[in-house]
Amino acid sequence: MHISAAPDPAKVLIIDDEIGPRESLRMLLKPSYQVHTAENVETGLQLLQEKRPDTIVMDIRMPGMNGIDGLRRIREIDPHLSVIMFTGFGALETAQEALRLGANDYINKPFDAVQMREVIGRNVERTRLQRQSEATAHELQELNERLRNELAQKERLASLGQASAEFVHDLSNPLTIVWGYVQILAKKLEHSGDGNNGERSASSQRELHIIEQNVRLCRELLTMWQSYGRVGATKPKLVSISSIVQDVGRGVSGMASQNGVQLDCEIAEEELTVLGDPTQLTRALQNVIVNAIQAATEKRGKVVVNCREKDLYADIQVRDTGYGIADSEIGKIFEPYFTTKQGKNGTGLGLYITKKVIDDHKGSIEVASTLGVGTTFTLRLPLHDK
Ligand SMILES: Nc1ncnc2c1ncn2[C@@H]1O[C@H](COP(=O)(O)OP(=O)(O)OP(=O)(O)O)[C@@H](O)[C@H]1O
Ligand SMILES: [Mg+2]
Repeated sequence: MHISAAPDPAKVLIIDDEIGPRESLRMLLKPSYQVHTAENVETGLQLLQEKRPDTIVMDIRMPGMNGIDGLRRIREIDPHLSVIMFTGFGALETAQEALRLGANDYINKPFDAVQMREVIGRNVERTRLQRQSEATAHELQELNERLRNELAQKERLASLGQASAEFVHDLSNPLTIVWGYVQILAKKLEHSGDGNNGERSASSQRELHIIEQNVRLCRELLTMWQSYGRVGATKPKLVSISSIVQDVGRGVSGMASQNGVQLDCEIAEEELTVLGDPTQLTRALQNVIVNAIQAATEKRGKVVVNCREKDLYADIQVRDTGYGIADSEIGKIFEPYFTTKQGKNGTGLGLYITKKVIDDHKGSIEVASTLGVGTTFTLRLPLHDK
């Protein structure tokens, strides 16, 4: 069963030292409003803070702090609250002064019930509208701020896009040359594989193969950048995520050993297939694994890459025993340009790109870290139906 709550009745606060008008006003308003009363300004101000009334009816002449001073204090606390002054007979001048000081209305004593109800109704409505427009203005301001931030971020990305278009263009020539020479070297090695040079040549061939794979990746990345922004730039295809993880692991193993980091790849024997873009997935994984190696370098620590099936997902974990991420920074690592590697060539785009690629593949990426102990990234990609 669903019980809907009745809307909150509006609240009226009456501040008057005389019991007669105070109580008769309470009786008059009780059927339609939540009524609070105070016999002096001090108690009234306290109730104002506690109850947040929609309208105040306040006597002007009171012992202690009078209504005019009370009005000033109320305005300091809540500039939008309607205040109706209650004035003794013939006190027109004081009533007018109260209006000058920011009261919204005044009513003479003894009051007329119909007129009183009408004035209070009007003022309750005014306060509510004021508060509503204040809240809307606040929301608008927040929305504006958020949009401005997003725009600034987009502009930075757009200017990066322009710069990288030129960079990509300049890079493709030397890369084509490297590619050509890699092919020549591969051929030469193939022919020198006979005789007692055999073992050395086989190892060089493996190394050359890694260079070849990575030069190919660079070429593909360049092509992808050139077609960036075009809708449906590449058509998704079936890719073996286990082989990609394996290749990336092999590709960065040289970097790991040079940095004194132990890199272990534990990959499920059964091939895990996802639908997507192999180049994108490769760069996404490379970013995470390279970060892990960089984090573990100082301690000469360890990086373990795990790839297995879990609940119809390919579950890839990259665990390192590196420097970890501070709690204050963990929420920012996927933002573009966030980096703690200033002066070490960090652009802060690595994880931003990774997240985008994983999102594009309808996957997820999570991070858990303890400062000084290590970090684990978990990437999940939906497996293609078997
Ligand atoms: N495994 C990790 N251990 C500790 N900190 C990490 C790890 N991975 C990422 N970070 C933190 O997240 C930040 C952002 O990573 P991201 O890969 O986006 O950029 P970057 O590595 O600084 O620069 P780039 O990837 O361009 O070289 C890093 O600067 C680092 O502070
Ligand atoms: Mg990085």
